[in-house]
Amino acid sequence: MSDAESTLITGIGELVSNDGEPSDGQPGSSQAGSFAAMTDAALVIAGGKVAWTGPASRAPAADTVVDAAGRAVLPGFADSHAHLVFAGERSAEFAARMAGRPYRAGGILGTVEATRAAPDSALRANLRRLAAEMLRQGTTTFECKSGYGLTVPDEARGLALAAEVTPEVTYLGAHVVPPEFAADPAGYVDLVCGPMLDACAPAARWVDVFCEDGAFGADEAAAVLAAGQAAGLHARVHANQLGPGPGVRVAAEAGAASADHCTFLTDDDVDMLTSTPVVATLLPGVEFSCRQPFPQARRLLDAGAVVALATDCNPGSSFTSSMPFCIALAVREMGMTTEEAVWAATAGGARALRRTDIGHLGVGARADLILLDAPSHTYLAYRPGVPQIAAVWQAGNLVAGAVP
Ligand code: NIG
Ligand code: FE
Repeated sequence: MSDAESTLITGIGELVSNDGEPSDGQPGSSQAGSFAAMTDAALVIAGGKVAWTGPASRAPAADTVVDAAGRAVLPGFADSHAHLVFAGERSAEFAARMAGRPYRAGGILGTVEATRAAPDSALRANLRRLAAEMLRQGTTTFECKSGYGLTVPDEARGLALAAEVTPEVTYLGAHVVPPEFAADPAGYVDLVCGPMLDACAPAARWVDVFCEDGAFGADEAAAVLAAGQAAGLHARVHANQLGPGPGVRVAAEAGAASADHCTFLTDDDVDMLTSTPVVATLLPGVEFSCRQPFPQARRLLDAGAVVALATDCNPGSSFTSSMPFCIALAVREMGMTTEEAVWAATAGGARALRRTDIGHLGVGARADLILLDAPSHTYLAYRPGVPQIAAVWQAGNLVAGAVP
């Protein structure tokens, strides 16, 4: 479709727009942009954006007409946490975990070794395969981290590759301390905050740190975020994944956009997530794949925190690229309503990425949308594991699936 053309999608059984008013009691209701859905709806795309939404009976004419035939239309998913630049795989580690061995941050080093040894072409091919897999499953925006290179040239090339496929690029030099710095972790933090940052900042929008026992402590994490922010990056944090710890506090004190994982939270952590703009990003694929207790989404939502859902797609702790799978887990295992889970996977992800142009289908939003092969968003959790993404538009272009 050229920019001059318009497309009318009509006969929409349920249009999830996430453009509700503040305080109407729906997910995300503390601000404008809460969960909202309309039945018997239509939507017009023009110039890559949503140009009109309303009752199908009042839809304006357009150059092309698509009949949704009673199916649902949703905003494309915004997956705000993924590690897609890597080589190798860790299925044996997964199988061992399922046989009773615990997940530890140490497995990351196996992927670091494979990633360092891989040519650009192999990393690019794997990254593009995963990005295409995401798109087919309705993810129209995704974040992508470095973090499996952990040398200046390897982190810089990871970010350059990520920037080929997404604008949401995150510098994660502070993923773990690599073996060559095992005796000098402070020296590694200096590298991450100095020459590595200098080489990486131009390709990145975000800086992240794995704040956890076995990775980086509170002071180290704060130093990494401060250095990244001084270089113009915005902060996000891997926080409270494997046990209680300082990650959420570090994120709040740094003014981070998001604290990710949030699996082990104290009451003080929950207070910080409700009293600051930090989004609590929950990654249920990790708890599924590591057989850990799921994060307490209900506790966060009832306290008033803004919650996002993301895949954390990576070869170790969560090798899924499927936001529908994460929605189903969030509903079944984390006490989220279907509305809350879909909001968290779309508008919540947009908040975690500080994006206002995606995650909703209000007039003026980027026309990133999903035609579901089902009459309502509920089916994403009601029919787990079933491919239900009939078509995907990105900035108004049909990029996956097909329309009648
Ligand atoms: O988000 N927590 C740190 N990083 C990843 C795990 C990466 C890996 O296991 O390779 C995560 O779970
Ligand atoms: Fe992660």
